[in-house]
Amino acid sequence: MTARTDAPVYRADIYSAAAIRDTHSHYAALRALGPVVWLSKQKVYALPRYAECKAVLLDDRTFISGEGVALNPVANRVGQGTTLFSDGEEHARRRRQVAHRLTPRALRAMTETVEERAAAVVEAAVAGRNVDGVELATALPLSVVPDFVGWPQGGREHLLRWAGAAFDGLGPMNRQAVRSLPASVGMMRYARRVVGDRSVLEGSMGHDLLCAADTGEVMPAECATMLIDYLAPSLDTTISAISSALHLFAIHPDQWRLLKADPSLVPNAVNEVVRYESPIRAFSRTVARDTELAGTTLLKGSRVLVVYGSANRDALQWDDPDTFDIRRDASRQLGFGQGKHGCAGQGLARMETSAMLRALAARVERIEPTGTPEWALNNLIHRYERLPLALIPAWTTSGSPGQTPS
Ligand code: HEM
Repeated sequence: MTARTDAPVYRADIYSAAAIRDTHSHYAALRALGPVVWLSKQKVYALPRYAECKAVLLDDRTFISGEGVALNPVANRVGQGTTLFSDGEEHARRRRQVAHRLTPRALRAMTETVEERAAAVVEAAVAGRNVDGVELATALPLSVVPDFVGWPQGGREHLLRWAGAAFDGLGPMNRQAVRSLPASVGMMRYARRVVGDRSVLEGSMGHDLLCAADTGEVMPAECATMLIDYLAPSLDTTISAISSALHLFAIHPDQWRLLKADPSLVPNAVNEVVRYESPIRAFSRTVARDTELAGTTLLKGSRVLVVYGSANRDALQWDDPDTFDIRRDASRQLGFGQGKHGCAGQGLARMETSAMLRALAARVERIEPTGTPEWALNNLIHRYERLPLALIPAWTTSGSPGQTPS
């Protein structure tokens, strides 16, 4: 694939370790170059601005997912059979299979459990005072999602590593993607065994998939890929959102005070966190027919990269995009994608992140940074690896952590 002369060229590797640690300065440079930028290292067209990202996500006939949304041919082949890597009726059929599990009504039935677990996680963390914000952010998703998907108890200890590897493997075929391959293959093997042994939890989403295979609605081979479809994107993403929220509120105490004073701002805050530090950096699409985007000719077969993390900081779309403000209406952020492939699990992710914020707001007076955070090195996931924090409790008159006495 060669660059069209009408697109500006960016030569830096946005998937290098240095760029992963400093992703926003690369995004700013890309946005300054134009709406469609040729990445000479990956040989794809990056879309760093909001309008083009949104247009591509909404035009799923021209910009297709069926040839994979990764940046390397191995992942684009191995991921065949997933909801993420499919188009048209096949995509709609896969998505329908478990849609009933993720409706607002179905999620409402889980609210109490999720809120209780979030409260327990936060209470334990407040008692310890000094925490790694990433560990704190991991506890709730890890206690909710495997049960929801129906993953058996055995093998849960590998889930985080497997899920992180699944994302890493969707980047370009760099050293990180290569290193992730054994774990990705391990996850797929294990999922096939789970389906073969029918060891999914009774009454779970995975159980629904097995039943659909029994009645011929899905192919038996699809069950394993679809289990991974829901498990792989459901941990690191939410861990990213919760840990970024912890960091952002730690370094913006004024915003924390606003949230504590008015917990009805929680849904806004979730959107603003996902806008400001979008958990998924970018997915790609294949161009299905010759077309034009923002004045750039895109030939059939070329690949475009929808850079959610950059679109969400585009000054053409947002006032003061680099300012974190939970009062802004960030509901149009693209961090959960948009259109037919828009995140199927966003209701659950929003519920978990909101539950954590509410539990924290009720029990924590201040969140204080106690060390330098470190970014995780992952091609796709934008999240901290380490986030040293202190949780300063809000003491009740009875002397236990809770609401600050008025
Ligand atoms: C903060 C948390 C999350 C973020 C930021 C996030 C982000 C995204 C994004 C950007 C996409 C769009 C993919 C595309 O455009 O090709 C997506 C798709 C998807 N997500 Fe999420 N996600 C999150 C949590 C979850 C959870 C908890 C689950 C499962 C319960 C989940 C399951 C899925 C699935 C199955 C798809 C594929 C949808 C399709 O292709 O039709 N996600 N997610």
